[in-house]
Amino acid sequence: MTDQPLLSVRDLSVSVAGSTLIRDVGFTLGRERLGLVGESGSGKSTTGRAIMGLLPRELNVRAAELAFDGIDLTALNEPRWAGLRGRRIGMILQDPLQALNPVMTVGRQIAETYRTHFGGSANTARDAALAMLERVHIRDPARVATLYAHQISGGMGQRVMIACALIAEPDLLIAD
Ligand SMILES: Nc1ncnc2c1ncn2[C@@H]1O[C@H](COP(=O)(O)OP(=O)(O)OP(=O)(O)O)[C@@H](O)[C@H]1O
Ligand SMILES: [Mg+2]
Repeated sequence: MTDQPLLSVRDLSVSVAGSTLIRDVGFTLGRERLGLVGESGSGKSTTGRAIMGLLPRELNVRAAELAFDGIDLTALNEPRWAGLRGRRIGMILQDPLQALNPVMTVGRQIAETYRTHFGGSANTARDAALAMLERVHIRDPARVATLYAHQISGGMGQRVMIACALIAEPDLLIAD
C-alpha cells in the first residue's frame, strides 16, 4: 500500500455543451509538490476543481481514474465528500474575493473552518485562527482577524485563504 500514489488522475476530460475545456489530463502525485503549468484559460483551475468535485453541474466530467488515497472520487456521495473536502484535500482558490465570505470577519472564517473539522470551544478555535494568521505572516493578527474581506488587501486575502486551507491540516493541498 505504501507505493500507492496519494492522488491519481488518468484521462480526465471536462466538457460543456460540445466544447472541451480539458482533455485527457493525467498525473500521479505522492508526498511531493507538483506544478501544473499552462497559459491562461488552459484549464488549471478546472483541473483543480474537478479533483475537488467542485465543478458546476452543467459541466461534464469524465475520468478513467480519479482517486485520492485509494478512494474513487468519481463515486463519492455528498456526505463522503464532506468528510474529505477541506479536511483531507484542501484548495486555495484563485480569487480571495470570490472565496471569502463577505459578511463574516476573516478571523471568524478561519476559526469556523477549524471548528467544522475539529470541534472544540470558540476560544480554542479563535486561538488556533490567530496562530495560523501569524504562521502565514500576517502582521498584527488580532487586528486583521476582526476585518472583513473587502477591508484587506489582495495579498492578505490570499494569505487568509491559505490559513483557511492549512488550518484543517489536509494531506493534499491544491494551490490555484
Ligand atoms: N463554468 C464554466 N462554463 C464554461 N466554461 C468554463 C467554465 N469554467 C471555465 N470555463 C472555461 O474553461 C477554460 C479553462 O479555464 P480555467 O479557469 O480552468 O483556466 P486556467 O488555466 O485556470 O486559467 P488562468 O491561468 O487564467 O487562471 C476556459 O476557456 C474557461 O473559459
Ligand atoms: Mg485559473
